[in-house]
Amino acid sequence: MALPSLSRVFSFVSSLLFVILHFSLNVASDSTGEAHALLKWKATLQNHNTSLLPSWTLYPANSTNNSAHHKTKTSPCMWSGISCNHAGNVIVVTLGGLSLRGTLDEFSFSLFPQLFDLNLRNNELYGTIPSQISNLTKLKYLDLSMNKLSANIPPEIGHLINLEVLALEENELNGSIPEEIGQLHSLYNLDLSDNQLSGLYPSIGNLSDLKFLYLYANNLSGSIPKEIGKLVSLIDFQLNENYFIGSIPPSIFNMSNLSRLYLYQNNLSGFIPTEIEKLSSITALSLSENHFTGSLPHGICQSRSLQRLTISDNHFSGPIPTSLKNCTSLGRVRFNGNQLTGNIFEDFGIYPNMTFIDISHNKFYGQIPSNWGKFPQLSDLRITGNDISGTIPPEIGNATKLGGIDFSFNHLVGDIPIDIGRLTSLNRLILNGNKLSGSIPRELGFLTELELLDLSANRFSSSIPENLDYLLKLHYLNLSCNRLSLEIPIQWEKLNQLTDLDLSHNLLKGEIPSEICNLKSLVMLNLSHNNLSGLIPINFEDMHSLLIVDISYNELRGPIPNNKAFQDASIEELQGNQGLCGNVSGLQHCNVPMSGKHGFTKAKKIMFVIVIPLFGTLALSIGLIGIFITFRRRRRDSHEEPNNVNNQETFSILTFDGRIMHEAIIQATMNFDADYCIGKGASGSVYKAELPSGDIVAIKMLHSLHASGSEMTYLKEFESEIRALSEIRHRNIVKLYGFCSHARYSYLVYEYIERGSLATILSNEGAAAELNWSRRVNVIRGVADALSYMHHDCYPPIVHRDISSKNILLNLEYEACVSDFGIAKVLKVDSSNLTELAGTYGYIAPEFVYTMKVTEKCDVYSFGVLALEVIKGNHPKDFLSSISTSSAGNTNIGLNEVLDGRIPPPSLEVENKLKSVMEVAFLCLDVNPQCRPTMQIVSQLLSN
Ligand SMILES: *[C@@H]1O[C@H](CO)[C@@H](O)[C@H](O)[C@H]1NC(C)=O
Ligand SMILES: *[C@@H]1O[C@H](CO)[C@@H](O)[C@H](O)[C@H]1NC(C)=O
Ligand SMILES: *[C@@H]1O[C@H](CO)[C@@H](O)[C@H](O)[C@H]1NC(C)=O
Ligand SMILES: *[C@@H]1O[C@H](CO)[C@@H](O)[C@H](O)[C@H]1NC(C)=O
Ligand SMILES: *[C@@H]1O[C@H](CO)[C@@H](O)[C@H](O)[C@H]1NC(C)=O
Repeated sequence: MALPSLSRVFSFVSSLLFVILHFSLNVASDSTGEAHALLKWKATLQNHNTSLLPSWTLYPANSTNNSAHHKTKTSPCMWSGISCNHAGNVIVVTLGGLSLRGTLDEFSFSLFPQLFDLNLRNNELYGTIPSQISNLTKLKYLDLSMNKLSANIPPEIGHLINLEVLALEENELNGSIPEEIGQLHSLYNLDLSDNQLSGLYPSIGNLSDLKFLYLYANNLSGSIPKEIGKLVSLIDFQLNENYFIGSIPPSIFNMSNLSRLYLYQNNLSGFIPTEIEKLSSITALSLSENHFTGSLPHGICQSRSLQRLTISDNHFSGPIPTSLKNCTSLGRVRFNGNQLTGNIFEDFGIYPNMTFIDISHNKFYGQIPSNWGKFPQLSDLRITGNDISGTIPPEIGNATKLGGIDFSFNHLVGDIPIDIGRLTSLNRLILNGNKLSGSIPRELGFLTELELLDLSANRFSSSIPENLDYLLKLHYLNLSCNRLSLEIPIQWEKLNQLTDLDLSHNLLKGEIPSEICNLKSLVMLNLSHNNLSGLIPINFEDMHSLLIVDISYNELRGPIPNNKAFQDASIEELQGNQGLCGNVSGLQHCNVPMSGKHGFTKAKKIMFVIVIPLFGTLALSIGLIGIFITFRRRRRDSHEEPNNVNNQETFSILTFDGRIMHEAIIQATMNFDADYCIGKGASGSVYKAELPSGDIVAIKMLHSLHASGSEMTYLKEFESEIRALSEIRHRNIVKLYGFCSHARYSYLVYEYIERGSLATILSNEGAAAELNWSRRVNVIRGVADALSYMHHDCYPPIVHRDISSKNILLNLEYEACVSDFGIAKVLKVDSSNLTELAGTYGYIAPEFVYTMKVTEKCDVYSFGVLALEVIKGNHPKDFLSSISTSSAGNTNIGLNEVLDGRIPPPSLEVENKLKSVMEVAFLCLDVNPQCRPTMQIVSQLLSN
């Protein structure tokens, strides 16, 4: 068939493209200075397009008194986000949350002498805060928070003496806080939190009107000065997450209006002054994660208004303060990780609003107060690691909002009260390491929300209750180290969330029930140290997620199943049985054909050993092809075309602009000459095209996307999906401008990202060295933000399906831009290209192999691989296997084993960030998709 000529057959989907590329402003000469100034600034914003600030134009199309020869002076007062006074001067500029991307350098502050409210919150502004901002002499409210502004806070800000609110939080500001802020006498709200500000606590003692002061999450150091006490109006004071040292100056307690005082996560030390009882309005006090010593002042809740008291992870000792007993307002108490003592039965009172109690890891003793059952709001109760004795009071069953109980590692005795069965919201019941006895009550089977049940290391006897089978959400069940006897009763088939099952060190007998193989999600199974006998059920072969198995010290015999976990088991995990055989070093070979209930003949065995792996690969391929065919057929079937429309009509939607654009691209790439090719991927080659306008775009040429007549509707659908993707705007996602399909050329037009792919950078010694640690952390965060956005802020959610270092591009500022979002799904790949559907080898979530379902959690897994790769400098293949064999977050891989040796070791601060990145990455690599965090959580964890 002859190829149709260029001009006849092609379509261009995104007319948006031309708007973006050919956008320019014609600023006329006869409008006001303010309008000009605003337009001049708008023109410098990088992501301006028609939908951004559309009302900001000199000559509104529908303006009646605007004729060609009679242009009126245009005032900006009608523009969105702008308000003026009667004299027509701009007094308010509020442009929050519009994704404005650019700098403030071209904002002519001196032309806005009347401006009193400037709000550019939650945009993507970067660069410095210009010192000319001080020209806004009337300014009362300045909110530049939640942007990417960097460098120092200009000292000239001190000239804005009318300022009442200064909000610069969540930027990347560094340097010290300028002393000049101390001159802003009208200030009542100062928020500099979540930046990289360093140096000492600022001299702001004279700001006597200050009510809200937020300096948290910076790098501030030194001690908290005495003069702090002069801020007598303060209501909310948050210094947490800095490096402050020394003790709390007692003058702080002169702030009689203070309601919240957050000092957690610093290096503060010393005693808590008894003056703390002067804080008569205090509702929340957090001193956690410091080095405080001594006992808690008895009057700490003199105010009777305290709702949150968190002092965890310090070195506090001594008794519970007496004022706590009457402190009925308490809602949240965290004392964990200290050396506090006292009888919990006597020292705690009744708190109707209590929701959270954590007194773990202290030296408390006495019995659990039955009063604690009278806290109707209580959702979490943690007393692990104390010397608590006595029995569990049945009254606990009255606290029906309880979601978590952790009484582990104490000296509790007696039965589990059956009243626990009333706690139908409970999802964690942790009682291990006590001396509890009797049988495990059937009533636990009523706790249908339970996800984690740990009764290990107690003295439970009798049999395992059958109805634990009702705990459909259970993913961790540990009954090890008890005296449980009889057979393993459970049918198990409903527990398809269960990943960890430990029944070891009991007195269980009989055969391993073959029903245990219904646990399709099981990863870890420990049946060691029991009296189990007989053959191992053959259907272990179907347990594809099982990774770790321990059946040592039983009376089992016969061949070990053809299951990866068994085949990879060490002899320690198999030893101490009667007669196991198999192809594992240390075991005898099975040469005698086995018979009996579970036995199978040699012939059958061969079938399973050889045919199944072979067949498995085959099934995988067939599965993939099947998916592919269904994918295509579904689209065809549902839109069966009555008559075969031919190619040319299919593509008749071409636009004038599209044609010009296409020709410009052909010209710019010399008809896709290899010289312009900047990369090759599975789906096609990428070209760089510099258009006559000077704009540079990346062209992704697709191998094959021929429309064969009947697929016109398919193309329509494709088109609308591409259109949806091209409307996505996120700083960490490469912009898709449009798409062109033509019998000879099918290509996508993307934003050009300067530094190319992360894979290339990491594989190049020099480029990898430039990618320093903080840039790497930033790259990981960027990818997380992009994924979180696509999974959680787009409707319907968009799954990338192919996250790998090849699809992450870096711009000049080393920021990550995820490319090809959603493309794997909409791209109609041919069979040579099947991998496209499944992602890139080495990044594919393990469950995909057997579920064949792509979910958000597959992206989460790939993200985990990518995050490790960025830290390590190459693909973390070796680690993946060791991670998958230990339960999530519980790997003993140290950061130093992972760090890329090509760049100097990180500073202590960055090292801590890297550690948390690594922890998050390990969570993402959990073999159980349900246990992986969502990208929203990942993004939050990484931004803290
Ligand atoms: C122009 O049209 C828009 C909406 O179409 C309207 O909100 C605005 O008030 C109009 N302006 C004038 C000057 O008529
Ligand atoms: C504007 O601010 C700059 C920097 O603070 C200052 O040098 C300049 O004199 C100011 N201009 C006016 C008109 O106030
Ligand atoms: C607690 O309150 C009771 C009654 O209101 C009072 O008798 C007792 O002295 C108070 N105890 C403390 C330690 O404040
Ligand atoms: C408990 O909370 C409610 C609602 O916030 C409040 O009205 C009540 O005063 C609180 N009770 C105590 C004892 O503080
Ligand atoms: C609490 O639980 C106990 C024992 O389970 C029960 O006798 C009592 O009636 C329940 N109700 C209250 C309000 O304490």
